[in-house]
Amino acid sequence: MDVFIVKDYDAISERAAEILSGAITQNPRLVLGLATGSTPEGLYARLIQAHRAQGLDFSQVTTFNLDEYVGLGPEHEQSYRRFMDEKLFGGVNVRPDNTHVPNGLAVPLLQECRDYERMIREAGGIDIQVLGIGRDGHIAFNEPGTSLGSRTHVAGLTRQTIEDNARFFDSPDDVPRFAISMGIGTIMEARKCLMLASGAGKAEAVRACIEGPITSMITASALQMHPDTVAILDEAAAAKLDRADFYRWQDESRHLIEERL
Ligand code: GLP
Repeated sequence: MDVFIVKDYDAISERAAEILSGAITQNPRLVLGLATGSTPEGLYARLIQAHRAQGLDFSQVTTFNLDEYVGLGPEHEQSYRRFMDEKLFGGVNVRPDNTHVPNGLAVPLLQECRDYERMIREAGGIDIQVLGIGRDGHIAFNEPGTSLGSRTHVAGLTRQTIEDNARFFDSPDDVPRFAISMGIGTIMEARKCLMLASGAGKAEAVRACIEGPITSMITASALQMHPDTVAILDEAAAAKLDRADFYRWQDESRHLIEERL
């Protein structure tokens, strides 16, 4: 894993936006995997800025979101579809048909999961997958104990995750207990993963993900087996990493070799 430690949340967003803008410019038909949550909001705001100011072109980009709450339709204020429409899709020129978020109202749900996997395959797979991380080390909604080989599935949310996400709802009772979520196996097939984490509340999960043992108890730790994962962390999220000095040193030294890569 390539670990970059930057000053603060803005710097995470800046660095991630540079990587995604560069990738879209290089391949206008990029297939992007996207995440919800507070963490990628700054990244999405910068992509909208890049579209407006520099004409970053999303017209041929395809997107697949990681997950959606079961029971919430696209119009629901807290649905991940609505979040994406508001935070990114509405501000860039992506074709609505090319944006995919699992349908939380689908029946049967298991068919929706299979269809989602098929659509990702038919799009040629995901080129870059953006990821946040939950406090219990989950990525997407792959809570502790989820198979590291899992595909898109109906995922049960832990009480902690429901409490963490309750800030967006009127009460924790309103937070759905299930979601449709890409599996760890699905995420591992993305050609590149970009994991973002900010704040002291994520420090323990980040440590376990990057430096702990690979275990389904911290599903993000599977990324240690991914051939091209970049983690972008701020100082607070990186605070518990044993090898933080090494990661910083590598980052500082990169210019020595960049042109030869
Ligand atoms: C949810 C999402 C995850 C996200 C996590 C962290 O559980 N399913 O994809 O990474 O929250 O969210 P935040 O970025 O708000 O801390």
